[in-house]
Amino acid sequence: MTDSLLIGRDHPASALRAAADRTAASHGGLVLVVGEAGIGKTALVTEAAAGRRDDLLVAFATSWESEAVPDNWLWLQVLRSLRGRLGDDVWRSLRPAPAVDVFLGEGEGARPVEFELHDAVTQLLINASRVRPLLIVLDDLHFSDTASIELLKFACQHTFFERILFVGTYRDSEIDPGHRLRGRMLQLVSKAAMVGLDGLADDGVAALVEATVGSAPDPGTVAEITRRTGGNPFFVEQTALLWASGQPVDATSAGMRDALRRRLDQLPEPILKMLVLASVGGREFHAGIMSQASGIDLQQIECALDTACQTRLVRRERDRYVFVHDLVRETLYNTMETDEAAHHHGCVVRALVADESLQKHMLITEIAHHAWLAGDDLDPETAVDLISRAGARSSSCMSFGGAEKYFRRAVERCTPAMVRQRVVLRLQLGEALQWLKREPEARALYALALQEAEDHGDPMLLTRAAMDVPQNERIDDLMRLKAIAYEGLAGSPPTPPWSTRPSPGSSCTAS
Ligand SMILES: Nc1ncnc2c1ncn2[C@@H]1O[C@H](COP(=O)(O)OP(=O)(O)O)[C@@H](O)[C@H]1O
Ligand SMILES: [Mg+2]
Repeated sequence: MTDSLLIGRDHPASALRAAADRTAASHGGLVLVVGEAGIGKTALVTEAAAGRRDDLLVAFATSWESEAVPDNWLWLQVLRSLRGRLGDDVWRSLRPAPAVDVFLGEGEGARPVEFELHDAVTQLLINASRVRPLLIVLDDLHFSDTASIELLKFACQHTFFERILFVGTYRDSEIDPGHRLRGRMLQLVSKAAMVGLDGLADDGVAALVEATVGSAPDPGTVAEITRRTGGNPFFVEQTALLWASGQPVDATSAGMRDALRRRLDQLPEPILKMLVLASVGGREFHAGIMSQASGIDLQQIECALDTACQTRLVRRERDRYVFVHDLVRETLYNTMETDEAAHHHGCVVRALVADESLQKHMLITEIAHHAWLAGDDLDPETAVDLISRAGARSSSCMSFGGAEKYFRRAVERCTPAMVRQRVVLRLQLGEALQWLKREPEARALYALALQEAEDHGDPMLLTRAAMDVPQNERIDDLMRLKAIAYEGLAGSPPTPPWSTRPSPGSSCTAS
């Protein structure tokens, strides 16, 4: 009996099956499925999860472009998916801690610190696993935000004896020294059972070519395809499609990505241009946004994309299109020079600003991502506004790492004349750093914000700065600044003059 409908994957599939069986019977753990892009990680874990929907509660989350998603994005998807599967009544019976409600953007409570969030999510998973054992699949961890990996580490550590199985996938070839997640991934690896995926052998390649295009080539051609693709299923499929269209598979230029480039080269110029534009939009993209961004008629875009669907490079899903694989998007995107890409990102942002109804198709962090990559192509006021909105949203969802990133970027995009925005952003950045327990850096930012507000001479701005910074430090200085702000607003100094040393019990703020 075969363990998998996938070609040549019986062994890895049975390893996953054994882990799922153990989870259903006693306890779970962490399994990491690793291999290069296109090798079949998603296909394998999707098949494994699909086979267990009867006895396990399955939640599937995918990372993509950590730059464009909010912190803890994987866990947001997991919790939303669990709640959807369990239904509201069961979900409430699991007694989610207030931190979970706040995390899901529904609670009123104060923002929990990182530990509280980790603990609350982990406890919720444990409670859910008592309703039904859990299988949590986290795809493409190499793209993940760091906060999601931290939470995964915590959850794994604290649920070892529970019936919860975490299955992660990542491109090990990309987590090289210098990758921002390398240290964290190594810590996970030390706790995980590893399932490595290699290329298919000749017989697997022949079977996959046949499954893709209906017939298999002669053994010599199969051997050539195996050699050129390393047996990587994605590239085998691409090469098979080339072969079926009458193209030779023994072209002199070697390299597995070559098959994909050659397929793209075969596309009519207008379709290729459209797909390059779409690659700016992200792994999933919306024809309406593309139309607004490029000024090309929506029908013309949809017609081109529908043709692209026939080439199996993109597919249509409800109201949007999706690249069949990240490699397709990456390859198309990389055909552009940096300036050209920046211009297209700028066009996407201008489209969203011109027609706000389109914004519902994107996360606020995605919009900020476009605004950032647009660089000088976008006017600084718009860029700062959109990037700082992502900072504020991250902050309200307790993603302080994300908040730091966006507020820093927004500060960086401020022109010298944008004093008000810069002061407010530094105050917000300071707050995020305080949550991250980086007090000295926060203090330095507050000092800069106060200094700039004082130099600027706008009493409203100075009031905001003096009131927003922590009130238990540099008390004398704050009193002085508040008195200046008061005089600027009221037209005369406070009477009686505020003492720089308030007497015990008195307030140090203007009243
Ligand atoms: N063992 C396999 N048998 C048949 N098709 C496969 C196999 N592995 C992968 N594929 C196909 O190859 C393509 C790339 O696989 P995917 O799982 O997306 O790769 P990864 O997630 O590792 O980047 C998909 O079209 C998938 O259906
Ligand atoms: Mg994948």
